[in-house]
Order: sequence, then structure tokens, then C-alpha cells
Amino acid sequence: MRLFVALELPAGVRERIGMLAGGIPGARWVRPENYHLTLRFIGEQPPHRAEEIDAALLGLRGRSFMLAFAGVGTFDKAGRSTALWLGVERNEALERLRLKIETALQRTGLEPERRRFMPHVTLARVDGVAETRLASYVQAHNLFRAEPVEVGHFTLFSSWPGNEQPVYTPEVEYALG
Ligand code: 2AM
Repeated sequence: MRLFVALELPAGVRERIGMLAGGIPGARWVRPENYHLTLRFIGEQPPHRAEEIDAALLGLRGRSFMLAFAGVGTFDKAGRSTALWLGVERNEALERLRLKIETALQRTGLEPERRRFMPHVTLARVDGVAETRLASYVQAHNLFRAEPVEVGHFTLFSSWPGNEQPVYTPEVEYALG
């Protein structure tokens, strides 16, 4: 199964973030129930590895913290925008949690994550969308900020191919003290 570790977003903040959807012709917006913040993409794993990963995450001791979503931007590939995202305000507790997860996963034998961590919630896939439209959207929404939310757990998700968008299923929740 294809796995990743992420933060789920409370319904209230998903609703608030959902107000950002719209106004870009051709953008494929993520449905608000699918919003999440990925802490570590794991990828395809056989069932016995999923169990080892679960055990490692269970053994991790982390603390709950506050997190505020703010600012929008795009990811590019070869100079073309591919994804529109919502960012987060600088947050050391989030980085600490990510490091703990990374360490726990490497102990199970996973290869280290080499890409720089850029915490975000993907709002839309935007390949093929006019860059001028995107630029004006980003400019118009860059001051967006949502009230901070308390992060009391993180979640191991599985991802399955869906008809239009992948289906993300929360498999296990890990409480933060
Ligand atoms: P994204 O939202 O920025 O695309 C499930 O696929 C989650 O894992 C998504 O949030 C996705 O980030 C993230 N992810 C990180 N690295 C990935 C990779 N190499 N392949 C697919 N998804 C990845």
C-alpha cells in the first residue's frame, strides 16, 4: 500500500480554507475533505513494512502544538506551475515533529528524505493553467491567514487511486501529549 504521514485538518479550518477554492479557470481543486499537510511521503510498502512503520510511529513521543495556515504560492516544474498551495507560519514544533518522524522511519530502514521540507496544504493542481491568472490569484490571496489550530495528533494515511482524485484513508492516528 502507498503510505504517507500527515496532519489532518479540523473541519472548521477546512471550511475556512475551502473559501480559497475557485477563480482560476482550469485549476483542479482538492476537495476540502481531502486537505492535509504531509509530514513524510513514504510510498509503496508491503503489509509487513506497514506494520513496522506503525510500530515505529507508535513509539514516538511528541507534544501537541498550535499551527497557523497563511500565505499561498505555487510549486513549479521546468518553469511551469504544477500545484497551488497554502503555507504555514513559521513553526518550530512542526519541524521538531517532522524530525522525530523522519528519525523513527529511518530506524525502520526507510531511505532518508532528501527533499527539503516545505510544509503546505495542496489546494489545486494547476498544470496547464495560464501563469498570469495564477500570479494574480497568488497576489490577491497572499495575505490569507486562518486562525491557529491545535495539532493533537498525526496520522498514517494510505492513498488509493480514485476516479478523479486519489482517495486518502486515515489508517492510524498517533496522539501528541
Ligand atoms: P502534494 O500534496 O504536495 O502533492 C499524498 O500523495 C501526499 O504525499 C500529498 O500531500 C503529496 O504532496 C505528498 N507527496 C510527497 N512526496 C510525494 C511523492 N514523491 N509522490 C506522491 N506524493 C508525494
